[in-house]
Amino acid sequence: MRTIAIVNQKGGCGKTTTTVNLAGCLAADGARVLVADLDPQAHATLALGVDPDELDENLYEILAEARGADALPKVIVNVCEGLDLAPSSIVLSALEQKLASERSDARTERLAMALEPVSARYDYVLIDCPPNVGLLTFNALRAAGEVIIPLETSFFAIDGVQKLLETIGLLSDRIGHDLSVRIVPTLYDGRTRYARQTLGEIRDLFKDLCFDTVIRLNVKLREAARQGIPIHRHAPSANGTLDYSALAIEVAASPPLPIERRAGEAAEHDPEREVVIRFRDTGAADVRIAGDFNGWVPDKGVRSLIESEGVTRVWTKVLHLQPGTYQYRYVVDGEWREDPANPESVPGPTGGRNSVLVVR
Ligand SMILES: Nc1ncnc2c1ncn2[C@@H]1O[C@H](COP(=O)(O)OP(=O)(O)OP(=O)(O)O)[C@@H](O)[C@H]1O
Ligand SMILES: [Mg+2]
Repeated sequence: MRTIAIVNQKGGCGKTTTTVNLAGCLAADGARVLVADLDPQAHATLALGVDPDELDENLYEILAEARGADALPKVIVNVCEGLDLAPSSIVLSALEQKLASERSDARTERLAMALEPVSARYDYVLIDCPPNVGLLTFNALRAAGEVIIPLETSFFAIDGVQKLLETIGLLSDRIGHDLSVRIVPTLYDGRTRYARQTLGEIRDLFKDLCFDTVIRLNVKLREAARQGIPIHRHAPSANGTLDYSALAIEVAASPPLPIERRAGEAAEHDPEREVVIRFRDTGAADVRIAGDFNGWVPDKGVRSLIESEGVTRVWTKVLHLQPGTYQYRYVVDGEWREDPANPESVPGPTGGRNSVLVVR
């Protein structure tokens, strides 16, 4: 079972649309799919034709109490062939308060525990997350092995994603398992030069992390959501169906590998170099490095050492890179900065500058 969280703290970027229609297309290709609606807005539940007010139980019951292994199947509803739903309801918004007194570990592993007993029943679980990174999203990230970030093809959206990657990086340190992250550009209007330019910047910045598929603007996706059916059943020849079918093929064909393993495999073809760079500062408490070599996830796949030179602290970052040109920044106490010791830099797509590293 592959568990994929659809995450972005930005509202309206296409999380629910991606969850529901990717699930629909995977199921249409013969996979067994569960959509877990973790958003109290219950948009995925509604978009799959289920009225949350008509159900007696939903994911709240499962997550609020540590219950037996048979609990989740009781709330799952079948939507169409190959596609099931674990529905949400507005009461999910009370979960954070309900679990406030529990250990943070116990609070964030509720969904992972609930999904465990059904893992043999499904090929995919897709988790639709709310537009914030709170307890519900943490539950999704702990349960997931993969993350898909829908990224609206607009300027400010890119900036938010770098922050999100930072959070995911910190979290995967804490939970001790790797999350492989991929980005799907959404709401793309190819008629505007601006959108074409932004898509180019997204591809430059995120490289292999980006799916080849781009989800175009398509009003049929809105209609399908209103009617409560996935796009491939509502409008089989619409662009929305073509795009989400292409995404389903890409997802099925390429389970993304953790970043470290990807780097390791490439090494068989072209030997990696060990690259050591250092950041010196007297005041900083936490310094990480993020670049296109680690999917802009701070310190992902990087060995980090801290030493002192008098009052100055020195962060040494050891990278393993194939020959090539890379862009990066330091994340100093949460702030993204260019490398003060490196004169080579280029303008970053979100303002500021990215430092450039050439490995020969
Ligand atoms: N490719 C698209 N073409 C046209 N409309 C779209 C497309 N993707 C999403 N929409 C519409 O944009 C709106 C926001 O999309 P969606 O609900 O999927 O975003 P979201 O990220 O889940 O939002 P939230 O953060 O509130 O959960 C919806 O009305 C949806 O129907
Ligand atoms: Mg949503």
